[in-house]
Amino acid sequence: MDVDIGNALATEASPGISRAALERLDEDVAQAHERIQRGRANSDHGYAALNLPATAHPDTIRAAVEPFDDADHLLVVGIGGSALGAATLVDALDGDLSVHVLDNVDPAHINDLLQSVPLADAAVNVVSRSGTTAETLANFLVVRDAMDQAGVDWTDRTFVTTGDEGPLRDLAGTHDLPSLRVPDDVPGRFSVLSTVGLAAAVLDGHDIDAILAGAGEVADGLTGSLFECPAYAYGATTYALDARGAAVNAMMPYAESLETYAEWFAQLWAESLGKDGLGQTPVRTLGATDQHSQLQLYRAGPRNTMVTLVRPTERTDREIPTTDIEGLAYLGDSSLGELLDAEFAATEASLAAAGRPNVRVEIDRVDERGLGELLYGMEAACVLAGELYGVDTFQQPAVEWGKRAARGLLGGGEFEEADAVDAKTTLR
Ligand code: PA5
Repeated sequence: MDVDIGNALATEASPGISRAALERLDEDVAQAHERIQRGRANSDHGYAALNLPATAHPDTIRAAVEPFDDADHLLVVGIGGSALGAATLVDALDGDLSVHVLDNVDPAHINDLLQSVPLADAAVNVVSRSGTTAETLANFLVVRDAMDQAGVDWTDRTFVTTGDEGPLRDLAGTHDLPSLRVPDDVPGRFSVLSTVGLAAAVLDGHDIDAILAGAGEVADGLTGSLFECPAYAYGATTYALDARGAAVNAMMPYAESLETYAEWFAQLWAESLGKDGLGQTPVRTLGATDQHSQLQLYRAGPRNTMVTLVRPTERTDREIPTTDIEGLAYLGDSSLGELLDAEFAATEASLAAAGRPNVRVEIDRVDERGLGELLYGMEAACVLAGELYGVDTFQQPAVEWGKRAARGLLGGGEFEEADAVDAKTTLR
């Protein structure tokens, strides 16, 4: 993964970061790196995620999913960090299966999905670290019931990914379901490179060793200087731009297959850094499509946004047919890939010319290795940014509040958060 922060630096047109400020920040990066390395060495909560390239046990994952390699469809039942990693990988890569991620509990969507998927040909992976998340368990109960009604033995088609304890672990034990363990001290949004994200990737026919190798290469390149380490360059630059007013980070991949990656990034950035009144609001956007909508705002709206432009330097291409239609002949000399790259360059230059900070992130290709680099690189960037902000990157109290309130409202236990919802409803 390469990161170019040239368009985040101060110029006559832009109030970006000065070289002197970056050098001062690099001293903080060095200290943050020491803390990160210490956390990794101790496998402390959260930091353990940065060790996954070496600790993910790909053979265990392959063995656990082998009984399901006859499936044509995969239903991943999970939410947040227990869904987005798998979704990112299978959406980015050309796979063997039709993969459906059941994260939301919108009944209309779930009804449509269950009517369209031949359940006898489907495998189901229920994923929840805690094993208690209401949306995941509700969706699983609905899928299980649909399988029963279709005469499919759900116990033959289901495997579970969860922690050592909890209702899902108990369920796996009771029905002797194949199961994978969510590794200790890896928070959901940092779990893509573990059993949580990789099981779906294996079933979909992807080379998870290559994913882990790409991630491992970035892990090996973590050093104590943003000038040497692209992942830290990204994390430190976003932090410094936020301090200069870039409260919004628009993540804009120029590859349709990376659209879900932008969603994954938004979760990582928001849930990890949004604490104590700090953090940067991530926005999911897509090049070149959103050049025709959001770009207007990013170039000429409030000066509160940085844009992260992501692209592969090599892509599958398709020639544009030659034409004698007047005014369109120029298109026939190029390809769709060249056009997309031209759009990328135009956006980058147009933002820079307007003094709007942007950062370029490149991988060689959207393949297993490139994804491993990108996902690990962004995780390391996020951990570094969390150190610089001084927030607790690996906790998510606001998310947990909502989970407890929802369970309480449905009668799933005594939770004071549910009382707060009741009080508000009564006031209305
Ligand atoms: O990153 C996180 O901690 C969250 O997004 C969780 O992944 C999400 O809430 C799902 O939790 P669980 O895996 O316990 O069902």
